[in-house]
Amino acid sequence: MNLQFHDYHPQSDDLRRCVMTGFAGSPKQLPPKFFYDEEGSRLFAQICEQPEYYVPTVERSIFEAHAQDIMRSLGLDGCTLIEPGAGCGRKVRFLLDRASPAMYVPMDISAEHLRGSAQRLAADYPDLPIHAVCVDHTKPYELPDEIPAERRVFFYPGSSLGNFDHSEAIRFLQDLRGKAGVQGRLLIGVDTKKSVDVLNRAYNDEAGVTAAFNLNLLHRIRQELAAELEVEAFSHQAFYNESRGRIEMHLVSRRDQWVRVVDRQFEFKAGESIHTENSYKYTPEEFQRLAWESGWASEKVWLDPLDYFSVHLLKSRQG
Ligand code: AVJ
Repeated sequence: MNLQFHDYHPQSDDLRRCVMTGFAGSPKQLPPKFFYDEEGSRLFAQICEQPEYYVPTVERSIFEAHAQDIMRSLGLDGCTLIEPGAGCGRKVRFLLDRASPAMYVPMDISAEHLRGSAQRLAADYPDLPIHAVCVDHTKPYELPDEIPAERRVFFYPGSSLGNFDHSEAIRFLQDLRGKAGVQGRLLIGVDTKKSVDVLNRAYNDEAGVTAAFNLNLLHRIRQELAAELEVEAFSHQAFYNESRGRIEMHLVSRRDQWVRVVDRQFEFKAGESIHTENSYKYTPEEFQRLAWESGWASEKVWLDPLDYFSVHLLKSRQG
């Protein structure tokens, strides 16, 4: 099989450290990267099938409606295609079915998930060399030596960028820009600002999958850190914060309670929350400004007819 696996996985005490500092702070918070254990990755895939969560379907419709233009502008043949946060590896098939990159480099924080999806891709595209890299891209990392430095195309769909605040987003985009080189490109999906109602429904699906995804974080903390905590004593909350242009997700304590993690007790008041995720939304112009500040120039933008989602092709500012 034409597949190599590079494991740069974060140390296992990372979750404990983040819980200890995140529960001690005010407001309490946890970084969204911890959603994605095996169960969390499975739940996220299920979110992507909920009718209210328009992101994957609308993004897909943009790719289909503009397939020729996107593929022609991208010029992927012979390039090294690199996907930070590759997840279940479904979206990249759209590109792999229409062009022949010289190499594919899926990266993800969840080792099990990455291994499985890379193996399925290797089986379905037997001529494509694949280097899977298990990495936490919120921390500094280098790509393996086997990845050619020339003609790198980064693919970052699904609006994962939304999890970063302004300065983190700039740092992330600058890092990709550095790794891409002056000839590099970035094809990125970015969720747009839209009606508050549509946004709120997308993160409060009727079937409760997003709630389960959010609460899974507490199951994980209970299991992995042997925390004394009652998951049922928390509830899912998600709302659009209009002034900050972001969806916020929280886990709200239903009552006054204490939570014990390792050797520490943390007090939760009724109604007090753990802030678990931000999902920033950008108008096309706002995102283009952000990209420019990060060393990228806009080459093309594609939108759906309702402007629910945007797909941007970026090139180096000094290309
Ligand atoms: C994977 C960060 C793009 O913010 O929409 C979906 C994660 N959280 N529903 C998003 C998520 C709750 C998702 N991203």
